[in-house]
Amino acid sequence: MDGNGRWAAQRGLTRGHGHQAGAEPVRVALRAARKAGVRFLTLYAFSTENWGRPQDEVRGLFELLWQYLKSETPELVASGVRLKAIGDLSALPEFARQALASAQEMTKANEDITLTLALSYGSRAELTRAARAMAEEVANGRLDSADITPERLSEELWTADLPDPDLLIRTGGDMRLSNFLLWQCAYTEFYFTPTLWPDFGEDDFQAALAAYAGRERRYGLADPAP
Ligand code: FPP
Repeated sequence: MDGNGRWAAQRGLTRGHGHQAGAEPVRVALRAARKAGVRFLTLYAFSTENWGRPQDEVRGLFELLWQYLKSETPELVASGVRLKAIGDLSALPEFARQALASAQEMTKANEDITLTLALSYGSRAELTRAARAMAEEVANGRLDSADITPERLSEELWTADLPDPDLLIRTGGDMRLSNFLLWQCAYTEFYFTPTLWPDFGEDDFQAALAAYAGRERRYGLADPAP
């Protein structure tokens, strides 16, 4: 969800206003995803690198998350959305952690769509943590190093119960992954759009899905996957 800062600068507003304007497209994207039958939607809301931003911007982002959860949780509960969070949640301010825990608890029985918020998330941290956990298991004699397989590693990631993404959408014009789901995106289709996140609407979401529908996925094989 990139481009909040530039959207605000174009209007002479603060970056905080840009993030506030970024909350509505979150609602729009979730609604559009549900309508299209998407079962998993993962939003990169705060990266490990984002901790380096000014303190009041960081605080503002977590207050925004808190507000979003307070105002949207009843709707999430009613509309079949299961909320999940990935990342180093221990680094989050207590008020944000509590709001997340409560929203996750209230939506845990829902099955239509899983909305995952990546918060204090970074792929390198996730992979390092997984490597360390497996190294400790090997050192304790509970894991044979020969049993370290891609599947076993995947089980150690924060995304253990999520499928690998089919489609990754990045708004804001940059064409890079920025430490997002590096392992999980091995065969993901990428869609980059110059649209800034606060301007990202239902039509944009549908355009991304239409582009995805036209892709041929071969997973390294000679013929497309069935
Ligand atoms: C990147 O834009 C965006 C973020 C670091 C924050 C994303 C947060 C939201 C969209 C707020 C709403 C989220 C929820 C879950 C309620 P940027 O600031 O890097 O933009 P720039 O590249 O134009 O400077």
